[in-house]
Amino acid sequence: MEALTRTSMNVCPFVKSHSSAAMKKLAKSSNLTTRALECPVLGPAMTKRQYSTPSKPAQAAASDNFKAPKTYDAGVSASELNNFNSNEVGTDYDGIFQSTIQKKRDDNSYRFFNNINRLAKEFPKAHLAEEEDKVMVWCSNDYLGMGKNQDIYNTMVKTMQKYGVGAGGTRNIAGHNRHAIALESELASLNKKEAALVFSSCFVANDAILSLFGKQFKDLVIFSDELNHASMIQGIRNSRAKKHIFKHNNLEQLESLLAQYPKSTPKLIAFESVYSMCGSVAPIEKICDLAEKYGALTFLDEVHAVGMYGPHGAGVAEHLDFDAHLKAGIASPPFKTILDRVDMITGTLGKSFGVVGGYLAASSNLVDWVRSTAPGFIFTTSLPPALMAGLNTSIGLVREDIESRITQQKNVRYVKKEFGRIGIPVIPNPSHIVPLLVGCL
Ligand SMILES: Cc1ncc(COP(=O)(O)O)c(C=O)c1O
Repeated sequence: MEALTRTSMNVCPFVKSHSSAAMKKLAKSSNLTTRALECPVLGPAMTKRQYSTPSKPAQAAASDNFKAPKTYDAGVSASELNNFNSNEVGTDYDGIFQSTIQKKRDDNSYRFFNNINRLAKEFPKAHLAEEEDKVMVWCSNDYLGMGKNQDIYNTMVKTMQKYGVGAGGTRNIAGHNRHAIALESELASLNKKEAALVFSSCFVANDAILSLFGKQFKDLVIFSDELNHASMIQGIRNSRAKKHIFKHNNLEQLESLLAQYPKSTPKLIAFESVYSMCGSVAPIEKICDLAEKYGALTFLDEVHAVGMYGPHGAGVAEHLDFDAHLKAGIASPPFKTILDRVDMITGTLGKSFGVVGGYLAASSNLVDWVRSTAPGFIFTTSLPPALMAGLNTSIGLVREDIESRITQQKNVRYVKKEFGRIGIPVIPNPSHIVPLLVGCL
């Protein structure tokens, strides 16, 4: 009632003209509350959730300026609901952290991080904790050395000087700008798709898109290659859709799984082009054939192929129609290419393009649908303007530089051959990945 009186005093001309003591008296002896609910001014104010006075903090506030926030009146006090005076013991959070870590140490899956400081002027060298302690980095995904490219660096510095270091918000608030527009248009054009969307990373992109499909397509069934990356596995889990895991690159098994469902059942096949752990390459064209036959969408992760394959570096899907894309340049070849047949392409901006970020390239309706409904895209601060501008420069350079792609492949062939010659066993594969099993140390 006190809250009502206070609210009333601010908004109601009648209540305003009476003292609070008079109002309290009136409230006790009349049907004031019922009548007030009928009032056009007070009624809406009263039907709003009412706040209780702030409870007293258990301990002195950290600062004199600290004001305890108002709390919702739950109707029943917390101590009535739970007997905090019992001998019940709270969860041992720290114990759980420690035992999980111990399990990881015991099964040798505990993660140790190297302190690797990649040196821009001495690529591919880095120094360890001490600057004079230098090593050669054999395991970076900065495949083309774009992480130290001077043009990208200059673009970033120039953009940062004009637009500052951060985007200032999500894409819906203040984080949409000319750099995002230009980058997405560049990515759409690289992938010869109608549209593209930039994410903070490809992990986020894969998770956001796949989980969205499961949530929005009732009865969706996802077919996922067993070697798919953790980001796709996470997205598929989060989608809560029915799923089938097929053996790596096994078309027969994929087909038998697809054939279990009527064509009208919504389906999605999730796979990668180059698998980074073993270097194998997916039979993209045949997967597209199956998708068309059984009415499925195709979701292709080109993370380890973008920048590395195809005349313009769009990835393996572009590479499969190499001559046609080379001849067509930025235009589309005059027939339906494999790139056209893949519904969704995701990629990273943090490996061959040397910076950070992820993207989706697809039809404009699909991209608009993701843009409008995927929480992983909507509710996060967009990449800083300087990064996006630098990425635009990077994509332009990589796209034009077919020579670097060819040189990289030749270097990989040389390294694999030399490893073989000195008895270091490389897992054979057709891609630029050089997988070495180091065994137990
Ligand atoms: C196959 C694959 N997909 C997605 C990702 C995630 O990409 P990002 O580093 O942009 O989050 C990775 C990262 O290594 C990857 O290997």
